[in-house]
Amino acid sequence: MEPTKPYIVTEQPGTKYYCACGGSQNMPYCDGAHKGTGIHPHKVEIEEEKTVALCSCRNSAILPFCDGTHKALQ
Ligand code: FES
Repeated sequence: MEPTKPYIVTEQPGTKYYCACGGSQNMPYCDGAHKGTGIHPHKVEIEEEKTVALCSCRNSAILPFCDGTHKALQ
């Protein structure tokens, strides 16, 4: 099985919508695929340019960010 790793992204300031449903074709961002599921994207305000680690296993306690939980799942 392919190891799960977070998405490492350097973000510019602005409002970001990160996928919470796992169905986006544009991970880690929401592309609207959640419609009809009752799940909504994580809205995050990025104040300044920074590199973030975004959870891809969806088990993090600090979603949408990675907290290292994926390491325990492998
Ligand atoms: S596409 Fe997954 S939350 Fe919007």
